[in-house]
Amino acid sequence: MENFIYSWPTKIIFGKQTESLVGEETARLGKKVLLHYGTGHIKKTGLYGKVVGSLEKSNVEFVELPGVVPNPRIELAREGIELCKKERVDFILAVGGGSVIDSAKAIAAGFYHEGDPWDFFEKHIPVEKALPIGVVLTIPAAGSEGSPASVVTNGNRKLSFYSDLLRPKFAILNPDLTKTLPKNQTAAGIADMMAHIIERYFTNTPDVDVTDKLCEATLRSIIKNARLVMQNPGNYDYRAELMWASTIAHQGFLGNGREEDWASHKIEHELSAHYGITHGAGLAVVIPAWMKHVHGHDEKRFEQFAREVFGKSTAPEGIQALEDFFREIGLPTRLKDLNIGDEKFEIMAKGSMRGDSIGNFVKLKKEDVLEIYKKGK
Ligand code: NZQ
Ligand code: ZN
Repeated sequence: MENFIYSWPTKIIFGKQTESLVGEETARLGKKVLLHYGTGHIKKTGLYGKVVGSLEKSNVEFVELPGVVPNPRIELAREGIELCKKERVDFILAVGGGSVIDSAKAIAAGFYHEGDPWDFFEKHIPVEKALPIGVVLTIPAAGSEGSPASVVTNGNRKLSFYSDLLRPKFAILNPDLTKTLPKNQTAAGIADMMAHIIERYFTNTPDVDVTDKLCEATLRSIIKNARLVMQNPGNYDYRAELMWASTIAHQGFLGNGREEDWASHKIEHELSAHYGITHGAGLAVVIPAWMKHVHGHDEKRFEQFAREVFGKSTAPEGIQALEDFFREIGLPTRLKDLNIGDEKFEIMAKGSMRGDSIGNFVKLKKEDVLEIYKKGK
């Protein structure tokens, strides 16, 4: 196991009707709040009214910035920064999924930065200070409610930056709020949370038994509850298991003491950037293709994955079982299912590179990424 320092500042408020506590929680942290949300589902479901009601009850003053799109854009973050400065905002409340939270994080860091917020993504300048953020989560998927990362798109570049200062101060997780998700978003969220574990599971670090077992058990629970929720989308308990799993999958705990990989995410972000596809749907194609490309590097680890997660024996059987599972819950497993041809493979493979490689389990060169796109065709 590698050395690690672990601390996690996010207060989790989990369960039924917990969104009614948002005013109280926010009032402790901010006087003037930016209420940031997406393209409208919170108005349709009535969540907007509940959040606003709770803020008003706690005498929290707020301004609004709606309009965050999936694969959020830097332009709206820039607008948010200007609005926060003009209105003297001191706290950001993100109501929605990973896209809204990531946009909030870009605003939070950009507020104190003299240059353009894209500098954080492109130049990796360190975050010295950020506005505090709170979250009401509506989709279990990205894990941004507990993570230090923000992923934002500028043109056809989709990049991330990280700082512990960006981790939300609180996250309200009411599984009931996820019952309005369309099936494809529920499924994409499942693929994403599984990918966050898989990116940590496939490691070269030896002697990581505890986190191996935590990863395997969390993956098994996700698979079990994913099947149940697909049959019973209105069931609170299955939704609750998935919601908690998605936060656990990406807040860092499962990666403690391990070298992590993250090549598949960079390969997928190119797909989302160039074709605007849903992140989790792209991962359902990329992860099995990546596995097919790299399993020879450590056959034993892939056999362990096959055995412990799917009750199979060999690496190819484990990979096939994962692909079958994705298909079973309605996800695409080939680029052609997403209407993506090979016309941009070269550009995307180049765009995925950080320096001359990505990933750690196997360091992938541009040619490897091209092969992975081809395997996903
Ligand atoms: O726009 P709204 O109205 O919010 O609708 C959203 C959106 O259309 C809708 N939705 C969300 N909750 C709903 C709902 N519809 C009905 N009922 C509900 N309860 O679902 C759509 C997708 O929302 P989005 O926020 O984009 O989903 P997700 O949470 O999957 O976030 C995806 C983004 O997160 C990034 C991805 O790359 C992608 O841009 N990621 C962020 C990470 C991080 N910050 O740590 C890590 C991840 O690996 C990922 O890269
Ligand atoms: Zn992800």
